[in-house]
Amino acid sequence: MEPVKIGLLGLGTVGGGTVNVLRRNAEEISRRAGRDIIVSHASARDINKPRICQTDGIQLTEDPINVVTDPEVSIVVELIGGDTLARELVLKAIANGKHVVTANKALIAKHGNEIFSAAQKKGVMVAFEAAVAGGIPIIKAIREGLAGNQIEWLAGIINGTGNFILTEMRDKQRDFDSVLAEAQRLGYAEADPTFDVEGIDAAHKLTILASIAFGIPLQFKKVYTEGISKITGEDVDYASELGFTIKHLGLSRRTEQGVELRVHPTLIPKRRLIANVDGVMNAVLVKGDAVGPTLYYGAGAGAEPTASAVVGDIVDVVRVLTSDPENRVPHLAFQPESLSDFPILPISEVETAYYLRISASDQTGVMANITRILADSGISIDSMLQKEPVADLAGSNTDSATIIIVTHTTIEKNMDEALAKINTLDAINNDVVRIRLEHLDAD
Ligand code: HSE
Repeated sequence: MEPVKIGLLGLGTVGGGTVNVLRRNAEEISRRAGRDIIVSHASARDINKPRICQTDGIQLTEDPINVVTDPEVSIVVELIGGDTLARELVLKAIANGKHVVTANKALIAKHGNEIFSAAQKKGVMVAFEAAVAGGIPIIKAIREGLAGNQIEWLAGIINGTGNFILTEMRDKQRDFDSVLAEAQRLGYAEADPTFDVEGIDAAHKLTILASIAFGIPLQFKKVYTEGISKITGEDVDYASELGFTIKHLGLSRRTEQGVELRVHPTLIPKRRLIANVDGVMNAVLVKGDAVGPTLYYGAGAGAEPTASAVVGDIVDVVRVLTSDPENRVPHLAFQPESLSDFPILPISEVETAYYLRISASDQTGVMANITRILADSGISIDSMLQKEPVADLAGSNTDSATIIIVTHTTIEKNMDEALAKINTLDAINNDVVRIRLEHLDAD
């Protein structure tokens, strides 16, 4: 049988890694796919730039349109990133009857509904395993491996840069800015590092995970997104003293009222396996009603880990090239006509526990006032400690105290109401720091 010809858009880190993996493992890949797979065409902004891969035998062009319109190409692999030109090219490839493999999380999170609908009409596949958690086959695990379950919730460390920053802050007492600068130097961060630290990259990935877990359309705009740039070493240390570690989590949970969709710093118990996922590694915890909690761990970025997911998708596409489109695995795990309009809950309706750090004058009755306000809002306290702030230890500001309160779960709007009142108390020096807390237990 003729080899299947691949057209690559982008020959950077992931593109180069994909060429290398396809060539190095060509024989095994062909035994798995049932056909030889070759990269016949590729586009790059500058075709003369040095690369991490050999390009002999590949027809190179600086105009990506040449790849998506070339009649020889059966599968277009989009690795240029961004969601403007990438969207145009992917839609053009689909219109030309080509299957698409992409690692582009922003593209799928923001334009996936449009892209899948176009692909459906044309009877072509769009595969996107590499868009979430790099080399971890999490899309396939949820969409196919867990297809017998009702997924109850999932929580993931799905941005390596953010996890690297929090790990270094905790383990080496380093400050946020210096760790971010190192992450950029090491090439982990997105082109715009605010995408990593403000949670946008994780929100793209969470949008995709929630859709395939719950059978809902992609709704990136409805993700509540909070970054890690305000996390201080002080909170990292207090959390640790209380038995928690702070992770930047993407979390989605099905409740009777709707689906929670949120990315924010989160205290999680240190004893959970996922709390021990450090550095640039990613992990996703998925709770299914039949299987219970399951954890998927691996490299979330990098040339070959991401290429591993891209090539896995290429093999998948090649295996079903001749099958009837109606009998393929649906793009978003559920049949397109069966997607649910289950609402996405606003953050005010989300149920979670909290860590509060309160800086207050050390006066009689302050604690009583705080606990009364919490009780009035129906919020129950789990544990509490009073600390001498760092400034006190240095001998200044001796009439102030730091109070740490961990609460039981409540609805966020109750906490908003209580904090608004606590912040107006005379004895409160700065606005209360609030970080959400999740136990991530099996129930
Ligand atoms: N900037 C991303 C990360 C790369 O740090 O995880 C992979 O999507």
